[in-house]
Amino acid sequence: MLTKEESDLLTLTGHGTLCGELMRRYWQPAALSEELPPGAAPLPVRLLGEELVLFRDDQGAPALLGAHCSHRGADLSYGRVEDGGLRCIYHGWLYDRLGRCLEQPGEPTMRWRQSGGRNSIHSPTSDAHPEAASTSHERIRHPAYPCVERAGVIFAYLGPGEPPLFPNYEIFTMPEDHTSATKLYSECNYLQGNEGNIDLLHTSFLHYIRRDLAALDPAERQRAVERYAAPGLLSGRGPSPGQERCEAQLMPYGLRYAKIRSTGEEQDYVRLATFVLPNLCVIPGGGINWHVPIDDTHHWKYILSFNREAPVPAEARRGRDHLAPPPTYLPIPNRTNRYLQDRELMRSVSFSGIPQIYFAAQDLCATETPGAIQDRTQEHLVATDAAIVAARSVLRKAILDLQEGREPANVVRDPAKNQFPEIVATFGVLPPDTRWQDYCNDLIAAGRGWQTNRAAQ
Ligand code: FES
Ligand SMILES: [Fe+2]
Repeated sequence: MLTKEESDLLTLTGHGTLCGELMRRYWQPAALSEELPPGAAPLPVRLLGEELVLFRDDQGAPALLGAHCSHRGADLSYGRVEDGGLRCIYHGWLYDRLGRCLEQPGEPTMRWRQSGGRNSIHSPTSDAHPEAASTSHERIRHPAYPCVERAGVIFAYLGPGEPPLFPNYEIFTMPEDHTSATKLYSECNYLQGNEGNIDLLHTSFLHYIRRDLAALDPAERQRAVERYAAPGLLSGRGPSPGQERCEAQLMPYGLRYAKIRSTGEEQDYVRLATFVLPNLCVIPGGGINWHVPIDDTHHWKYILSFNREAPVPAEARRGRDHLAPPPTYLPIPNRTNRYLQDRELMRSVSFSGIPQIYFAAQDLCATETPGAIQDRTQEHLVATDAAIVAARSVLRKAILDLQEGREPANVVRDPAKNQFPEIVATFGVLPPDTRWQDYCNDLIAAGRGWQTNRAAQ
């Protein structure tokens, strides 16, 4: 449980808020590359409560500007992409990707001074003489933010000063065709979405489906038992009641967390994941869920993945679109249709009753229904919420570090430190007599901490 002040500290991200200041110190996804193909119209973007416009300049480089023209506020997303920038359709002011105003074409090219000393920008009279042209455009600095395009996503830095290095997460070192990216509109605060990743217990309930063990071959059956505990059961107590515990371990750039299931046999089963400051998780199986505030009550869940060994087939990439198809990325199951929950399915196959083909909508139901910003003064955290508690304190510490003049964790400026070998995201059987923390070290030493070639859940 948090006080209202503690909750506000972690959830509010508009301009001038403490968490908003923190978020602006990191590169954040602004759009998918597929939303802005070469030659496309400028894209209106809302990010951290700011109205912005994304476009590609003449060289195809993405550029992010404040949406409202510095002249008299017209929306630049209706503008013309030409002459090395974006031109407002109201009076033709032209901006480049750095926010410089290159032209104010309506302004006089000559200023005329009357002999009597009166300035005039009207037609010259017989006793007038010309002086220098208007230089007003040189004094305009329109809001403009640096962009970087990687792995099918356009990222932006909205903070002050020199941006940090772009983080070298392994996905960003892959060839483009080994990566995949999509996004999902979420009608709740970003923290609810991200806490859904950190809450590993829920996978044994919310996402649980009964499987027909007899229909599986022996290897699949063994895998199902390891992965889902008692996959032939469908019970309100979950597949492994009372056998799971959740733990966490502080990391230099966030939090490593685990769910450990006692199987009663020699070997336990474990799911391992990493919260990376300030608003993403690498989840068991290796996908990245990056929860980016649109404003305080809506966010985009960017879903990124990669495969180290092989290109991601185009059909697999497009296969993700069935839940929230482009160009809106609005989920088909949503609050207005009660997430397509089916009570018959709930009785027979699915714990949640939300069809398994809409797996991520099961998460949406759980994270949106607490309300646009969950009232955390009313929650009651228990032992299995240990990782949630730890993640909140990691986030709070980063916010306070920034306020006290220290660089927050995971803002990387030293190229030698721009590597993240300690990200662990996998699941499977824990070797006998091994602590999960030691198992993580073994995985890292073997270069196998971040799984990429297994299904995400
Ligand atoms: S409002 Fe944009 S040029 Fe005047
Ligand atoms: Fe989930």
